Amino acid sequence: MGAEDSPKKQSYYHPPSPRMAALKFKLKIAMLVLLTNLITLCLFSSAPRPFHLPRLSLPIAWDAASSSSSLVAHLNSTFAQLAATHSRIADLHRQLASSNSLVESLLVELAGSRGGRPHDDLSIGPASDGNLPDELKLAVGPHKLPLGHSPRVGSDVVHPPVGAACLRFKEELAQYMSYDVGGECPTDDVFAQRLLLKGCEPLPRRRCHPKSPAKYAEPTPFPQSLWTTPPDSSVVWDAYTCKSYKCLIDRNKQRGYFDCKDCFDLQGREKHRWMYDNGNLDYGIDQVLATRPRGTVRIGLDIGGGSGTFAARMRERNVTIVTTTMNLDGPFNSFIASRGLISMHMSVSQRLPFFENTLDIVHSMHVLSNWIPEAMLEFALYDVYRVLRPGGLFWLDHFFCEGPQLNGTYEPMIGRVGFKKVRWNAGRKVDRGPQKNEWYFSALLEKPMT
Ligand SMILES: *[C@@H]1O[C@H](CO)[C@@H](O)[C@H](O)[C@H]1NC(C)=O
Ligand SMILES: *[C@@H]1O[C@H](CO)[C@@H](O)[C@H](O)[C@H]1NC(C)=O
Ligand SMILES: *[C@@H]1O[C@H](CO)[C@@H](O)[C@H](O)[C@H]1NC(C)=O
Repeated sequence: MGAEDSPKKQSYYHPPSPRMAALKFKLKIAMLVLLTNLITLCLFSSAPRPFHLPRLSLPIAWDAASSSSSLVAHLNSTFAQLAATHSRIADLHRQLASSNSLVESLLVELAGSRGGRPHDDLSIGPASDGNLPDELKLAVGPHKLPLGHSPRVGSDVVHPPVGAACLRFKEELAQYMSYDVGGECPTDDVFAQRLLLKGCEPLPRRRCHPKSPAKYAEPTPFPQSLWTTPPDSSVVWDAYTCKSYKCLIDRNKQRGYFDCKDCFDLQGREKHRWMYDNGNLDYGIDQVLATRPRGTVRIGLDIGGGSGTFAARMRERNVTIVTTTMNLDGPFNSFIASRGLISMHMSVSQRLPFFENTLDIVHSMHVLSNWIPEAMLEFALYDVYRVLRPGGLFWLDHFFCEGPQLNGTYEPMIGRVGFKKVRWNAGRKVDRGPQKNEWYFSALLEKPMT
């Protein structure tokens, strides 16, 4: 099954029906034509200099003696102004002609794109979205830059970023941007995260204050903070079913689906993770670090790092790890931060906010797996490759898939992206019954030096 005909991919992208999209596009073009003409009209009718001729104050006070020469001078300057006005009008005509030809070429393109993918309007502008909150329009601009900044930016306006998919969820986006400016933000963490997970990432910025924890105390000093469960009072629990860390820890004794079930129990399974290498799927941190010259793994990223234990263990080895995580069922970001580690609230869909060839190591456990649509996963792997420095390590920890996908899909994909295998282990996953052909693989991969 190729990437093109994957049903996962199709359900992920939700393309709009071509007819509807074409209709919308035509409407937008009509608006554009109208707008262009309106602008032209405005320019002509409101231009102050050419039509007021305010300098022509001559008839009021001129005596016969000096009149003739001063009149000539006046007339001379008036003619000069008229000449300038003429050339401005000519300029405007030229601009109008070029914008008309732009509209024409757009129309031609539209006519020719029968069945082709129409252009999606990625701008939130007053022209197309009259009913969106003003606060949203203000947040996403465009904002005009001061003179002199345009060359570096390549534009004289900035459109502060929001995820392109935000435009597919305009009602939710409008709700997200409805609040009292300067006041407390709505308690909408779950709502906001759901919007983000659907692809509206980044969310637009807001001008309100998040609710603060009722009794925030100074954090536990480092390094004790690494293995201390913070007080419940350090978290706003509104968004979660559990209202305490004890509740979150006790979840693993219950049945049912929870994300990262035992992650919050720092004295339980977390205490032993990555401490031992079983020679198979479980790699040890020390064994992985030993594959590189001492001290050369210094900075990195843990994608979907749960409660931050990987970063904590690396911190104990003087390696700085940034952990990305969602707050699914629990305050993962707050918890990681309380441990004195850096958390980032970011989904696996987003481009990694690091520059290319910079990180020594990227780790990911249980998160990158076969639930991610194939095409999207390949982009993610290329992105990991991008941010790793040459010789950098990608530790793909417990990647879950079906038997045929292991050799049929994922192993070739990893090779295609360009990673070199340092270590590779595959093992059957049997906890849901031996009749299921489910597999894990763990891999230590390297971005080649050259
Ligand atoms: C009119 O203005 C031009 C320059 O703007 C100048 O060269 C010319 O001498 C002026 N003529 C008179 C009569 O003032
Ligand atoms: C971490 O760095 C400190 C200070 O540079 C050093 O004393 C310590 O031995 C290092 N720990 C490890 C595990 O390398
Ligand atoms: C994948 O291929 C290897 C040989 O390259 C083979 O040993 C292994 O059994 C295959 N795994 C599965 C799950 O088919």
